Amino acid sequence: MKTKKLSLVVAACNNMGIGVDGKIPWTLRGDMKFFSKLTSGTEEEGKQNAVVMGRKTWFSIPDRFRPLPKRLNVVLSRNLTTPPEGAHHLAGSLEEAVKLLNESPVVDTIDKVFIIGGNSVYKDAMLHPCCHRVYLTRVYQDVHCDTFFPNMDDTFKLVSDDGIPSEVQEENGIQYKYEVYEKVA
Ligand SMILES: NC(=O)c1ccc[n+]([C@@H]2O[C@H](COP(=O)([O-])OP(=O)(O)OC[C@H]3O[C@@H](n4cnc5c(N)ncnc54)[C@H](OP(=O)(O)O)[C@@H]3O)[C@@H](O)[C@H]2O)c1
Repeated sequence: MKTKKLSLVVAACNNMGIGVDGKIPWTLRGDMKFFSKLTSGTEEEGKQNAVVMGRKTWFSIPDRFRPLPKRLNVVLSRNLTTPPEGAHHLAGSLEEAVKLLNESPVVDTIDKVFIIGGNSVYKDAMLHPCCHRVYLTRVYQDVHCDTFFPNMDDTFKLVSDDGIPSEVQEENGIQYKYEVYEKVA
């Protein structure tokens, strides 16, 4: 069986900021729905997708929404020894998470793998040989952030995907747009 591809999902503002004070500094319900649909949608009957995230991203999700439903929630930490309450798995590195998701018995229950932040988890995933796509919501705002999405070099090419809305969205006066990048060898 081939190793599962990794797809990153992120929303970033004009300076590629993604977070401040442990939170996402905007509320875009449309983008949250998009995130939920993208990361929950499976092609293989009876399987679910996995979401892989750093410890701080896990704790940035309000209690009542953890674990993200209908998805296998994998948290990365070098210090925790057991998964935080509600998380399905703990891994000590991205590679360990990839191994877990590609080995029996977990592999038989998983369809796609989404990397959902934060900064260093995205960085590791972008360098991983199984990195496939970046689903980027571009938020056209200047927002003060303390956490950023890593630079995408020119191995990432903008592609079109019929399943993703291509027009600019607007909510509460904030414009944003979905973009899909694919990593070329
Ligand atoms: N806009 C978006 O789409 C988006 C998406 C996700 C997150 N965010 C925002 O980003 C911020 C959180 O991101 P962050 O970059 O500060 O933190 P993070 O990556 O979520 O968590 C950092 C922690 O995760 C663990 N970790 C990270 N990489 C690891 C690796 N390769 N192997 C093992 N453990 C690893 C470490 O935990 P230990 O210290 O326990 O070892 C590390 O301290 C929040 O503001 C959040 O709201 C935004």
